[in-house]
Amino acid sequence: MINGKTSVFGLLGNPVEHTLSPFIHNLLYEETQYNGTYNPFFVPTGQLEYAVKAIKGLSLKGLNVTVPYKIDVMSYLDYIDPVAKRIGACNTINVEADELVGYNTDWLGLKKSCDYEGIQLDGQHCVVIGAGGSARAVAMMCYYSNAASIRIVNRTIEKAEQICRYVNEAKAEDCNDRCEVTFGALESQKHLETQSILFQTTSVGMHPHYDATPLDHVFAESERPDYASLFKQVAAVIDIIYNPKETLTMRLAKEHGVKAVNGLGMLFFQAVCAFEIWTGILLEQEQLERALKKLEIHVYGQETDR
Ligand code: ATR
Repeated sequence: MINGKTSVFGLLGNPVEHTLSPFIHNLLYEETQYNGTYNPFFVPTGQLEYAVKAIKGLSLKGLNVTVPYKIDVMSYLDYIDPVAKRIGACNTINVEADELVGYNTDWLGLKKSCDYEGIQLDGQHCVVIGAGGSARAVAMMCYYSNAASIRIVNRTIEKAEQICRYVNEAKAEDCNDRCEVTFGALESQKHLETQSILFQTTSVGMHPHYDATPLDHVFAESERPDYASLFKQVAAVIDIIYNPKETLTMRLAKEHGVKAVNGLGMLFFQAVCAFEIWTGILLEQEQLERALKKLEIHVYGQETDR
């Protein structure tokens, strides 16, 4: 129950009506007996600066930031975590020594989700389909997870090239020459490195477009898609979409014997990482398992078979 000692958190976005974040954070409060409340804050166009300033003005404990403010919010923060800077977006604000510090827990959440699902990225060949904001976080996540190579493929090739450049800049700054980063058109994916990990980051296949997959673009229109050959080279598919529970990309992967996971784990773990930053409380494995199961039942009516 909310009382005078309740720590207040929230989400800045526009729109915020369909967010699952309050549900997830309440699960975390329940597991840790934490006295917190998490609220969606609709921020009208032009009001972001005032919303961010309210953190100190209202003694809020921390805020998440979502579409369309993850980039713009950085102008109003005192310090930005170096990885968030490389990703070019912040989704979490923490107050540290009276300063507003921006983090990106999307990449951390995806990394934790991969670990949770037993998908190893260290030394693996990673392919990122798409080149939007999410793809940039995914590509950086692959880099920080010591992938052997990262290939970014997109319908608009210039955007894939740009993300490739960002990762290469990070590599140069870190004097790291281990990870090979390349880009290409979607059609160039017919010949994958053996046992690639495929990250699907586009909006293709999202509700209500259940019969769409960006993998269609890999094959020419006149050609019969040879998914058997394609998936022979794939070790796992991570689709960052979580609605539907199983996208066509995931279904095709599973039909060819390839492990496929959706984006609900990423969403769950990005919330867990934000909670950890704000409170310093680390959840035990069994608390995470219990909370994630409850989230799956809430969203899909059943938990996921692993
Ligand atoms: P987000 O922030 O979630 O990454 P975004 O920045 O709008 O969203 O990026 C959407 C991604 O989905 C882009 O890679 C986009 O490809 P383009 O860069 O060519 O626009 C990709 N995408 C969207 N619709 C697509 C479609 N019908 N076919 C292939 N790719 C598509």
